[in-house]
Amino acid sequence: MPGLTIGDSIPNLQVETTHGSFKLHDFIGDSWVILFSHPGDFTPVCTTELGKMAKYEEEFTKRGVKLLGLSCDDIASHKEWIKDVEAFTPGSKVRYPIIADPKREVITKLNMVDPDEKDSSGSQLPSRALHIVGPDKKVKLSFLYPATTGRNMEEVVRVVESLQKAANDKVATPVDWQPGDEAVISPSVSDEEAKKMFPHGYRTVDLPSKKGYLRFTQV
Ligand code: BEZ
Repeated sequence: MPGLTIGDSIPNLQVETTHGSFKLHDFIGDSWVILFSHPGDFTPVCTTELGKMAKYEEEFTKRGVKLLGLSCDDIASHKEWIKDVEAFTPGSKVRYPIIADPKREVITKLNMVDPDEKDSSGSQLPSRALHIVGPDKKVKLSFLYPATTGRNMEEVVRVVESLQKAANDKVATPVDWQPGDEAVISPSVSDEEAKKMFPHGYRTVDLPSKKGYLRFTQV
């Protein structure tokens, strides 16, 4: 499934990791999972990202989210690299598993290949892909960054909050939304339904079109 995208079920691959061999669906269980790939071990941007992810793990655990990293090198290399990662980011402890994918089988199936990056032997490398998978094993959101752009972990937390808010409260979150801000009511919800769904009320923004589609509510 090279084009794995939002709405798709994540394939139930057997993966070899720093925490042993398991099937992706068994790892997901009833949790949300952030599955994130890195171009390679002992590379600068990746080293900064893995440490930051480890520092944020508690934030994700609080939200019922498990972490699963991936880099193409083998498990022995990952274990050596983790020492550098933890040394670079003080206070970080890499407790999450990291998938090894020396044959590039996993990255191909999970749409995590960077078309522009190859290692010294000419093999393809992973992009900085990040899939957020729901307890139903479906991809809810994906980031696809090139190797040269590190991710922003605050944004990863923010989108987890948004996805969970949308799933639990049947709302959408507007631009730059942060937890505690008003959410918007989906266009598929009629005003009649909105009155029942949000008995504490909602406000409709008066716009030139007078279509009444921009409705905010506190949830
Ligand atoms: C890095 O992680 O720093 C990196 C890896 C591959 C290409 C460019 C940057």
